[in-house]
Amino acid sequence: MNIYSVRMRATDGQGRHLSGMERLIFEEDVSMTLQALYQRAWHYEPHNVYITVEKIDQEITVVPVLRIRSEIHTSSSRSGVRNQAREILLDAHIEMDVIDYAFSLLDQGPAAGGGNMRGAVLLTKRSGRRLEPDKDRGVRTLRVDIHPEDRERLHVALVQQGFPHPRTQDALILATKTLWAGVIAELGWSDDPDYTTGFVATKGTYWRFEGIKEAGVNVGGRIYFVEEDEDTAELIKRLQQIPIWVTV
Ligand code: COA
Ligand code: AMP
Repeated sequence: MNIYSVRMRATDGQGRHLSGMERLIFEEDVSMTLQALYQRAWHYEPHNVYITVEKIDQEITVVPVLRIRSEIHTSSSRSGVRNQAREILLDAHIEMDVIDYAFSLLDQGPAAGGGNMRGAVLLTKRSGRRLEPDKDRGVRTLRVDIHPEDRERLHVALVQQGFPHPRTQDALILATKTLWAGVIAELGWSDDPDYTTGFVATKGTYWRFEGIKEAGVNVGGRIYFVEEDEDTAELIKRLQQIPIWVTV
């Protein structure tokens, strides 16, 4: 059966990105998916909505979803929450200085002149060098979705575990591909001022951290920690081009 990538992105009157979504689906589901993505875009009161439908000619690689865990609530302060995230990154052999730098990038906005990027930072784990070719664009994880037959099962499993927010599911799926592609660990939080939950993904687990950023802050982003001698071009190719179906 033919498989398609259906993508939506919505922008405001100034051309700023509001929302994006990608589905990898069977041909028979294309028209239903177009409707669902259009509806999702409409929620953001967009000026323009761009829809792309593209046939996938490659074999789709199947990858099991990361385990999901919430941080242990030993502390309710932001610094306490961040210390737990730091511990997990240290355990993944990321240098302390590099972890501090990553937090400061996300606090300031990691784009070249401050502010939000359009993708992720690639940061080497020991010397903290930025490898992404364009520091405003960054690198995006694309061509990934939950397997159509597992969509409902993943949703039910996440709700049962106490993670009903659609953002959690989207970030979990993206992080599953990001680690599969060879990224050692990922740290991220949203630029949405009302959404203060962030995450660290590494070693097969996606850790959620509520209150990792202050409410009202409109900067955020994603840091992909990579090996010192990472082949950047190959990594970017895997992140952007190889189609992945995540399974439960
Ligand atoms: N953030 C900010 N700007 C974005 C963006 C994002 N996530 N995605 C696209 N854009 C803007 C950029 O200006 C981009 O230009 P650039 O490549 O110079 O940065 C422009 O839109 C065109 O990007 P392109 O990659 O051609 O868009 P696309 O039509 O192929 O759609 C998206 C890509 C929007 C689907 C993808 O970026 C995205 O957001 N994916 C999210 C997937 C997701 O949440 N999956 C969950 C799995 S269930
Ligand atoms: P969000 O979690 O959707 O609010 O996005 C927060 C930040 O993560 C954005 O400002 C981008 O810098 C980055 N980002 C968003 N989507 C992707 C993606 N698909 N791949 C890599 N980085 C992304």
